[in-house]
Amino acid sequence: MTSSLQEQLELDAVTAMHRAYAPYSKFRVGAALRGADGSVHLGCNVENASYPAGICAERTALSRAVADGVREFASIVICTEAEVPTPPCGICRQVLSEFAPLLQVTSVTVAGARQTWRLDALLPAAFAANLMAVS
Ligand code: THU
Repeated sequence: MTSSLQEQLELDAVTAMHRAYAPYSKFRVGAALRGADGSVHLGCNVENASYPAGICAERTALSRAVADGVREFASIVICTEAEVPTPPCGICRQVLSEFAPLLQVTSVTVAGARQTWRLDALLPAAFAANLMAVS
C-alpha cells in the first residue's frame, strides 16, 4: 500500500473514532478496514447499557464489510485517544483472523503515535476452521 493510501486510512479511522458511542467507558475507538479491492469500511465501538452487548470498533468494521460483500482484507487502522497505540482485543483478533490471518494492523493515537503488527504476530496459533477436521 502506498503511504498516501495508508495516510487516508488513518484519517478515516479518526473520522470513525469521532462516531463512537462510548458513554460508559468514555474510550472512543475508530477502525478503518481496507478491503483487498480497495474499499474502505468504517467501524466504531458501540456500547450498551447492558455492558456485554457492546461491540468493538474492529468487529463493527468487519461486520459492515462482510454485509457489503467484502471478505478479503489488506489492512486495518485503529484510532484511539490513548497515550499509546492500542492493539485489538482478543475477540477482535480472532474475528479478524477468520477472514485475514495475515492482516496488517496499525494502531494510531490522536497525538500521532503509531504501531504496526501483522495479525499472526498478535494471535499466534490461532484457532481456525481447518483445525476442526476429525477422523
Ligand atoms: N474497544 C474497541 O472498540 N476495540 C478494542 O480492540 C478494544 C476495546 C472498545 C470496547 C469498549 O467500548 C471500550 O473500547 C472499552 O473497552
